[in-house]
Amino acid sequence: MADFLSGYSIQHWLESAAQGYLEGTEYGHLPGEEEPKLLFEDPLLHEQALRTTVQLVVGERCALSASSGLINAAPDEASKRFLATQTLDEARHVEIFTQRLYDLGVRKQDLEDVIRRHANPNLVKFAELLLEKVDKKDFVAGVVGQNIVLEGMAFNVFEMLHATSKELNPKFAHTLSGTIADERRHVGFGENRIGSLIRENPHRKSDVERLQKEMSYWMLATFADSFRAAPAREEIARARAQAQAGAGASATWHGVDLGQADPEEMEHVLADTVLADFKKRLGRIGIEYQTPARP
Ligand SMILES: [Fe+2]
Ligand SMILES: [Fe+2]
Repeated sequence: MADFLSGYSIQHWLESAAQGYLEGTEYGHLPGEEEPKLLFEDPLLHEQALRTTVQLVVGERCALSASSGLINAAPDEASKRFLATQTLDEARHVEIFTQRLYDLGVRKQDLEDVIRRHANPNLVKFAELLLEKVDKKDFVAGVVGQNIVLEGMAFNVFEMLHATSKELNPKFAHTLSGTIADERRHVGFGENRIGSLIRENPHRKSDVERLQKEMSYWMLATFADSFRAAPAREEIARARAQAQAGAGASATWHGVDLGQADPEEMEHVLADTVLADFKKRLGRIGIEYQTPARP
C-alpha cells in the first residue's frame, strides 16, 4: 500500500495542485477573466447558468461533507491524509462555484435562498444516500459512493460543461479544468484504495452494489430534470446554438456536437458516458455494476 499512496501524499498534492496547475489562478480561473456579456443580456441563458452552477455547489457541498466525514472512518493513516487533501479540494470547489454565483449577480445575502430555490431535489436525495453511509462511518460504502459514483458523475459533468464553455466562456472553462484535474485524483484514490478493502471484505459487496444502483437512479433523475423539464429548454438550446455559431465555436463531446444536439441527445450522451464509466471502474475493484431503473 505504501507505494500506491505516494501518489496521494500531501507532498504530491502540494507539488501537482497548489504549486502546479492552480498556481496563479484566482477562484480557479486567470485573474481578470469575466463571464461573457451574453449571459447577462439573455435572461434564459442567465437563468440556465445560475441553475447549473447551483447544482455544482450542491454536489460539492456534499463532497465536502463526505470527504471530511470519511477522515475519521478511514482505517489507515495514509488514507486519512489523502482525504484531508481531498477535503481542501472540495472546499475549494464549493468556494469557486459559489463565487461564480456571485459573479453572475447573486447577492451574498440571497445565496442560500437561490440555492434552495434551484437545487434539484433528486440531487439532494443522491447526496443524502451517500451522507447516510458517511454518518455511519461506513468507509467502504462511503468511498465507493463518493470517489466512484459522486466523483465519476462530477468528472463527466465537468468535462461536458468544459467542452461547451471552452470557446464561449474561457473563465468558466478554466475554473472547470482545475476541478477536473482534482476529480481525476479523487477517483484514482477510490479505485486504488477500495479494491483491496473489497477483497478483504467480500461480504460488503451486495451492500455497496445496492448503493451504486440507488445513487445512479437519483443521478439519472437529476439529469432527466436538467435536460427534460428545464423551463423553456427549447429556447435555451436555440440560444446556445446561436451563441456557438455566432462565436464560430464548435463543441464536440463523445462524438456529439453539443452546439447542435437537442436536450434529449445531450441527456443520453451524458448518462451513457457516466454509467459506462461506473461499470469500468467498479469492475476494476471487483464490484458488479447494477443497472439502475430509468426515470
Ligand atoms: Fe469536487
Ligand atoms: Fe472530488
